[in-house]
Amino acid sequence: MENPQESAPLFETLMNHAKKKMVSFHTPGHKNGCAVDKELVDFTGKNLYYFDVTVFPEVDSLHDPTTCIKQAQKLMAKAYRVKESFFLVNGSSVGNQAMFMSACQPGDSIILSRNVHKSVLGGIILAGIWPIWLQPKIDRDLDIIVDAEPDQILAAIKKFPEAKAVFVTSPTYNGVTNDLLEIANICHKHNKLLLVDEAHGPHLRFHRDFPVSAVEAGADMVVQSVHKILSALSQGSVLHVNSDNIDTNKVKRVVSMLQTTSPNYLILASIDLARRQAMISGEKLFGQVMLAAEAGRKAINKLKNFSCFKREDIRFRGYDLDVTKLTINVTKTGLSGLEIENILSNEYNVQVDCADIFNLIAIMGVGSTRGDIDRLVKALEAIDVKYHGTAAYWDLHLPSLTTEMVMNPRDIFFSKSYKRVSLKKAAGQISAQTLTPYPPGIPILIPGERISQEVCDYLLELSHKDIRVSGQETDTLKTVKVVKTK
Ligand SMILES: Cc1ncc(COP(=O)(O)O)c(C=O)c1O
Repeated sequence: MENPQESAPLFETLMNHAKKKMVSFHTPGHKNGCAVDKELVDFTGKNLYYFDVTVFPEVDSLHDPTTCIKQAQKLMAKAYRVKESFFLVNGSSVGNQAMFMSACQPGDSIILSRNVHKSVLGGIILAGIWPIWLQPKIDRDLDIIVDAEPDQILAAIKKFPEAKAVFVTSPTYNGVTNDLLEIANICHKHNKLLLVDEAHGPHLRFHRDFPVSAVEAGADMVVQSVHKILSALSQGSVLHVNSDNIDTNKVKRVVSMLQTTSPNYLILASIDLARRQAMISGEKLFGQVMLAAEAGRKAINKLKNFSCFKREDIRFRGYDLDVTKLTINVTKTGLSGLEIENILSNEYNVQVDCADIFNLIAIMGVGSTRGDIDRLVKALEAIDVKYHGTAAYWDLHLPSLTTEMVMNPRDIFFSKSYKRVSLKKAAGQISAQTLTPYPPGIPILIPGERISQEVCDYLLELSHKDIRVSGQETDTLKTVKVVKTK
């Protein structure tokens, strides 16, 4: 019998439709590409635009799927061995928000490490939940931040037994995965839901040498960016429901509420195709990508001023590593990662995914080749010889962030009772602002928490060094927005 995973029902339906080259009296207004700017069409070709259709019976509806989208989602669920999978067209950002809104009621609390993606704060506000923040770990040797450990989660569950769920980011941007088996064990023993942001890990399931995936570990809900590592187009993500403790009808309602009624069918079809590709050739393709990544890592570690931590380094610390992510430390160059990112891009046509003061993060995906990694290594070799900066070494440090939540972030978001106070006098007040300095790139202040003296001192130090803080509403950071209390 034919392997059902070799089919791609949504893509096949769209392909059949596209081939008919039907006259369009539906949105979008470009009408099968006829009105798309010529310069773009000359580059892309016209056929692409026959896939850009709207909801009609032949192509099914994302909001109430009954035919090809339903079949494609079922194949996805089977591929990951979960109860149900939902296609998303606004990335894992909407997936995180949907997880909170479907797993929690307003007023519930959730345990999570502070180094979460910014969409999580949106989810907290939309769902009206109380965050119980855990202090992430800073690794000063590697200059990276890692998620809170299982012991911290267990301690928080004991301290806040009313918490409804635990939310974990694994892998992190650096590819570091948490001990999800242990965390799932802790959560389920204490009747807590485990929700995992696995935006960076849709591929883990497809090769035995990757770290354990969230679904395999037994997480209740998992969100994955199919577009980040597999071959879906940008915005293509998926939300998996992996337990009977989640009401799938509620998830369906929430996902429908948060998503556009005009989903891009090219994105949807690309999710379907990414699943087919990964199921048929994932093991082979990711085997090759891992080999290329490890060769790159080895070559980078031979350079004088660049280094790239290895899986052993991370395992030694109790975590695991997806080796297809290369975190390249640049501190010995005397330049920042941001400066090297620019040099790589402007002089060598190599673009990394992101950079901070300490590191470059090069992400490899299902489409990466050995040739790509050779280009990166060659460029770094040349930079190693040509560029030497004089920047002082930065220390990555954080004030204590396990602060007291006094008000629900949602109440603050919808309140108009604010005032600005000098940072020198802000300790003890309730924050009405999110402030995220780089480094470390995680929020130092969150709406609803009591501002500590330590956080004020840290922000003042940044202000004196003239370091811009994301979320600051004034040219210089001298004041902070707080809740006006009577
Ligand atoms: C850890 C993490 N979660 C969620 C997201 C959001 O994913 P998306 O871009 O698919 O919306 C990102 C994006 O970079 C991320 O790094």
